[in-house]
Amino acid sequence: MMNPLAIDELPKYLRDKIPPEEPQKPPNGYIIPVSFPYISPRSKERVLQAIEEATISSATSVVGELEEAISQFYKVPFVKACSSGYSALVLALKLANIKKGDSVLVPSFTMAAVSNAVTTVGARPVFVDCEEGQFNPSAAEYQVSLTNDCKALIVTHTYGIPADIEPLVSFADDNGLVLIEDIAEAIGTDYKGKYVGTFGDFATASLYANKTITSGDGGFVMSTKEDKSLRHRANSYANHGFTPKHHFLHFEHSGNYKMSGLQAALVLPAIDDIPTVMEDRKRISATYRENLDKTQGLSLMPLNPSGKEAPWMFGVLVESREKRREVREKLARDGIETRDFFFPLHLQPMAVDMENETVSPPSLPQAESLGLRGFYLPTYYGLGTDDIVYVSNKLKMALRDAE
Ligand SMILES: Cc1ncc(COP(=O)(O)O)c(C=O)c1O
Repeated sequence: MMNPLAIDELPKYLRDKIPPEEPQKPPNGYIIPVSFPYISPRSKERVLQAIEEATISSATSVVGELEEAISQFYKVPFVKACSSGYSALVLALKLANIKKGDSVLVPSFTMAAVSNAVTTVGARPVFVDCEEGQFNPSAAEYQVSLTNDCKALIVTHTYGIPADIEPLVSFADDNGLVLIEDIAEAIGTDYKGKYVGTFGDFATASLYANKTITSGDGGFVMSTKEDKSLRHRANSYANHGFTPKHHFLHFEHSGNYKMSGLQAALVLPAIDDIPTVMEDRKRISATYRENLDKTQGLSLMPLNPSGKEAPWMFGVLVESREKRREVREKLARDGIETRDFFFPLHLQPMAVDMENETVSPPSLPQAESLGLRGFYLPTYYGLGTDDIVYVSNKLKMALRDAE
């Protein structure tokens, strides 16, 4: 493995593209963080109850209660709570029988966990560009990247803007692909009046602290299909491959992907609050749009083209990587934390051929342009309207200064 700090060892074409270092954190910390966890007012009581009753492990009934609550919320027959969004993806891929020799279509403009899960099961990620002007690939971009060995596609609904999922369901059906929706950034996101995560064969979610609802770390995998063996296989894959009837008999290599009872107790009451949290995201997005619309040198993230506008994070784009750096540094000095957009996965040091500069990564210009020019602003439940106005004004000033 290469030294993670050895930027100088990267091929030159990559060195010219990699994002600059993060802005300096102000000495007294940020006044407005980029995200803040949503904890339901009823969570404290459930967590204390779990401690008092010692129902803290993955083997306790509160985990089943959480799975039932998610199942009711999404109206799907199968839910398995797990330790992270990444482990949910690994479980979904295993349940879909994706393995060595298979390829999986993956958006390049997303978080590294997505392709890491694919490589974890021994398969190969095939990176897909975004549709022009959008944060997700459409069926046309998935089609361009499709290879004969593709067995599945992952759709990510990036930053809470739903992908145009109906044509993707047809694309998956036409090509015999398993469709996995990763709703890590899109819990409670609406596509034509229906929640994303209910269109594919499987959906996976992260419950990390910056997500719509949280168990600290955590996640879940769900399926729209009734299949008696699914729960049995999921329980085994998530728990070292144990076999219930012959406890210490293991039919395959697996890891530990379980969620604890304590984590389940923390997030369980928040399931009912998802619509409230999404309503607040709607307010935040509308307020940013009101204050930032038509700002010179700034583009705002696309609107939800097919439903209620309530993104997970509010994203903006400037003209260049250099301008982004200047603007983000100025905002940091004003106590405002921001975050770069995902640096595309097809350009990640882990994905490119380090030994051979002549083997260049695929050309995915939309993902690259978003990854180099975009960043997101503070977005979390309860962020004050006056804070949004403050961030917007400071952003406009920083843009003027950077001209
Ligand atoms: C699209 C997507 N998938 C997966 C993950 C991984 O989730 P976790 O950090 O819970 O493993 C993330 C995390 O932000 C994500 O954005």
